[in-house]
Amino acid sequence: MTESPPARIFADSAEACRTLAAELAGLVASINASGRPAVLGLATGRTPIPFYAELIRLHRAGELSFARVVTFNLDEYLGLPAGHPESYHSFMRRELFDHVDIPAENVHIPDGTIPPDQLDAHCAAYEDAIRAAGGIDFQLLGIGRTGHIGFNEPGSPRDSRTRKVELDPITRQDAAPSFGGLDHVPTHAISMGCGTILEARRIALLAWGKGKAAIVKEALTGPVTDRVSASFLQEHPDAAFYLDAEAGSDL
Ligand code: F6R
Repeated sequence: MTESPPARIFADSAEACRTLAAELAGLVASINASGRPAVLGLATGRTPIPFYAELIRLHRAGELSFARVVTFNLDEYLGLPAGHPESYHSFMRRELFDHVDIPAENVHIPDGTIPPDQLDAHCAAYEDAIRAAGGIDFQLLGIGRTGHIGFNEPGSPRDSRTRKVELDPITRQDAAPSFGGLDHVPTHAISMGCGTILEARRIALLAWGKGKAAIVKEALTGPVTDRVSASFLQEHPDAAFYLDAEAGSDL
């Protein structure tokens, strides 16, 4: 028997982000007070942008410091140098890191320019770094229309680890507008695996808009299957979905 993660449905994404950001600020403060850095797993894409804006607001208000925060991003496109405007390195600087007090050495994002012969070692080192940091306290997720978390496309095993993945055609289509056309969207990425993600002690998945309603319902109430990697969250002891009214409208 599995018990589905709670679906917390808010009037809009702003309210969901305010709620979760306040919870996260409390978590970081209490972990820091216990004498160690807080370890956060971070996501990119459209969904977390208003959440990061709220974290920046809390930071500016003196209610959240990243001085003792260590971060691990879920994924990075293969072939994109950190300086490429669509790389997740650029995204994270633009949307969060440039605006808060996180020490540069505490930030971890897979290297999209790693040569093929070093890729496996790079992925293993990423896993080692997560373990060395004490594991992830809080993992932020979005969900793709394929049901992916990170870039764990349909067929990704429950126990998969950080590795090279091939992007689903739907995922590439969704990314095409920001890359100025499908031809410019990378075909592969490095992504934490389902197993890596599921080891986080607490997980929050965010989803906004009608376009996510069907896959949110499938992930929460459908079978636990590698066809929808977000369905594995049903088996996590402390995962919750933070939804706006539209994303929760099929539940
Ligand atoms: C991003 C990631 C992806 C996205 C998902 C949703 O780091 O790993 O799983 O969270 O593709 O993307 P958006 O938020 O753009 O709809």
